[in-house]
Amino acid sequence: MELRVIDSIAELRQTLSPLRQAGASIGLAPTMGALHAGHGRLIERAVQENDCAVVSIFVNPIQFNDPGDFKKYPRTLESDMEFCRKLGAAIVFSPTTEEMYPQTSQTFVEVSSLTEHLCGKFRPGHFRGVATVVLKLLEIVQPARAYFGEKDAQQLAVVQRMVRDLNVPVEIVGVPTVRESDGLALSSRNQLLTPAERALAPLLYQALQEAGRCIEKGVVDPARVKRAALTTLDRPEIRVEYFEVVDTDSMHPVERIERPVRVAAAIWLGATRLIDNVAARLRSRTASN
Ligand code: PAF
Repeated sequence: MELRVIDSIAELRQTLSPLRQAGASIGLAPTMGALHAGHGRLIERAVQENDCAVVSIFVNPIQFNDPGDFKKYPRTLESDMEFCRKLGAAIVFSPTTEEMYPQTSQTFVEVSSLTEHLCGKFRPGHFRGVATVVLKLLEIVQPARAYFGEKDAQQLAVVQRMVRDLNVPVEIVGVPTVRESDGLALSSRNQLLTPAERALAPLLYQALQEAGRCIEKGVVDPARVKRAALTTLDRPEIRVEYFEVVDTDSMHPVERIERPVRVAAAIWLGATRLIDNVAARLRSRTASN
């Protein structure tokens, strides 16, 4: 199928509506562009599991709490389109900001408790912006399935909760994180790292793995897990924004590790913020503090 690039909401609706009426399933991979192999996995799944795969590419201004971050976010539309074409996507939807937000919005989607910790705590308004644009995209595309990366575990939880709470008829599919050979999770922000920062970046995943190993060995005290893991990140070049052991469902820090958890962290390397997370569960029978 030839890739179509559409930037108007009306044209996208006109294109998709007859397909949907003919019984074709539509899969949506929402992205902000600067596509890499992690997005590639979302797009591949959307292509494999649906009759028509739509990739949205839109750097959403209302989810950036820092205007400087919005400005420097990488934009690579030409190569992104080529990437989508190679993977067999049918449509790239790449609207302008004016198309998505023709006037100052008065309506926002707020997912409350799930956003109190982790990124939600340090990026005020971020998840409100994400939930709002994702609901808009779901309304515009009306896909059967939409694909999100597990690297952004809190975002995935927020979107899942939003569609449940608001009865949006879509299946939200979580797709495993793709990593470089040294463990660094793929992210569009990685290209903003200097070579020296890039060399240190894999320490984030190493620290998370260390935490996972502690938990598997039976350490139930999150403070002890954190102490052990944070030695890995104890470098003058690294600023740890948060490092938390959270309940998988609520995304709130746990006081004692009893059920499966997620260990999630955000660090700053110079001017670049990186996030990552791992799932962990107690394996040993005899838990220790
Ligand atoms: O994960 C992203 O790239 C963005 O947060 C998303 C889901 C496309 C919404 O703008």
